[in-house]
Amino acid sequence: MATQKSRIAYVCEECGADYSKWSGQCLQCSAWNSIREIRLGPKSTNSESRTRGFAGTENAVQYLSAVGAEEIIRIRSGMQEFDRVLGGGFVPGSVVLLSGDPGAGKSTILVQTLGYLSEQREVLYVSGEESLQQIAGRARRINLPMDRLKMLGETSVDRILAVCEQEKPEIVVIDSIQVMCSDSLDAVPGGVVQVRECAALLTQAAKRSGMIVLIVGHVTKDQTIAGPMTLSHIVDTQIMLSSTEDSRYRVLRATKNRFGAVNEIGLFAMTSDGLREVHNPSAMFLSRLAPSGPGSVVNVLWEGTRPLLVEIQALVVQSQHGNPRRLGVGIDQNRIAMLLAVLSRHGGVLVSDHDVFINCVGGVRVTETSTDLAVVLGILSSLRNTVIPPDVFVFGEIGLSGEIRPVANGEARMNEAFKHGFKRAIVPKGNAPRKKLDGVEVVGVAQLSEAIDSI
Ligand code: TYD
Ligand code: MG
Repeated sequence: MATQKSRIAYVCEECGADYSKWSGQCLQCSAWNSIREIRLGPKSTNSESRTRGFAGTENAVQYLSAVGAEEIIRIRSGMQEFDRVLGGGFVPGSVVLLSGDPGAGKSTILVQTLGYLSEQREVLYVSGEESLQQIAGRARRINLPMDRLKMLGETSVDRILAVCEQEKPEIVVIDSIQVMCSDSLDAVPGGVVQVRECAALLTQAAKRSGMIVLIVGHVTKDQTIAGPMTLSHIVDTQIMLSSTEDSRYRVLRATKNRFGAVNEIGLFAMTSDGLREVHNPSAMFLSRLAPSGPGSVVNVLWEGTRPLLVEIQALVVQSQHGNPRRLGVGIDQNRIAMLLAVLSRHGGVLVSDHDVFINCVGGVRVTETSTDLAVVLGILSSLRNTVIPPDVFVFGEIGLSGEIRPVANGEARMNEAFKHGFKRAIVPKGNAPRKKLDGVEVVGVAQLSEAIDSI
């Protein structure tokens, strides 16, 4: 058991690194004069949380084959899209960090979730940011069940833990960690040390009592104040709610999950009645408003376990300066540079005196390579000022020698697009079906030159 004594630590206020003595420069983040002497609360955190699940066994050596699988109990959030990202629901005793820009809808999604859950379970929502009146107004407006939703306006972690001890909630929300402070520390509220230590205290409580702790953390644009970066190590699950300025959609994505996969995304729409789940999202990122112009091409992405149709837009314009620009929104810039190199070497298309912009419509962020073909065909379409017909979709990875490589789940991607009325596909030869399909046309391409000829 840990000793209940306060200790002195030397902590970098920029990155949260711990040192046993003061020094002028932080070895972790290289900041100068950022290390402060700080009195911390009782030492605790890690040793306790790391032994969770093995309690009572005194950490004896065992053969792996003799260790039984632990049945993970899950508490469903009441929203399928949320559960999908969590890996099936909340796990008792776990700590979930929900991060995102201010205004993304973190408070909204958590109030809604707790509202639903409060009908069957003991829950507590701690708000240190918004007043309870504000939250009540919002909950009333979106018709949430409120009778059993317990609220607490508090920023002292010590007090919150005392209340939890009394109320014994199964699920507690801390909104947000940036405004929390603990009396056992003399560090500034909102600073990296307070944030980290408060999160550690909450984590300890979660592990001890089995309650689920949901922590809200803001991401700042410049990452200057103590951000979720330092928290990622402490929590079990980190999920991110992102929004885009031009879109009412919100994407929920796990970046770390001890109890599930991290490749699933959950999709929501922010409406006047709060966040609504988008159950059939595959076509939500297609811009239906305007007929597609030059540079626009529809790509079928694979997100987690389902296909997603996304419009990729390319704009190629004569460069004004000697230094042509390559910019990507929602797509990696290096990937664009690589594709341009392949296009020049194996497609004979040179854009070295042009600026190239690529945009994934609707704020989608592409992390897989199946977009390659769409990017290249979009660039060609913009360069030649020709329109790719709106009933065409493409996907495929492009290798450095100009070969078009097949991607996973090709058939499922095609089926989804055909379901949405697309009639023609340009896909890797390895993904093309052997038999001809009725009413639709699939062009299988093995080389970049074939793909260029196909449009
Ligand atoms: P909020 O949950 O307060 O964001 P966060 O906690 O991440 O800072 O959501 C804020 C935004 O959501 C705000 O711009 C208004 C919008 N909103 C709606 O459009 N409809 C609604 O029903 C609600 C509750 C919020
Ligand atoms: Mg909020």
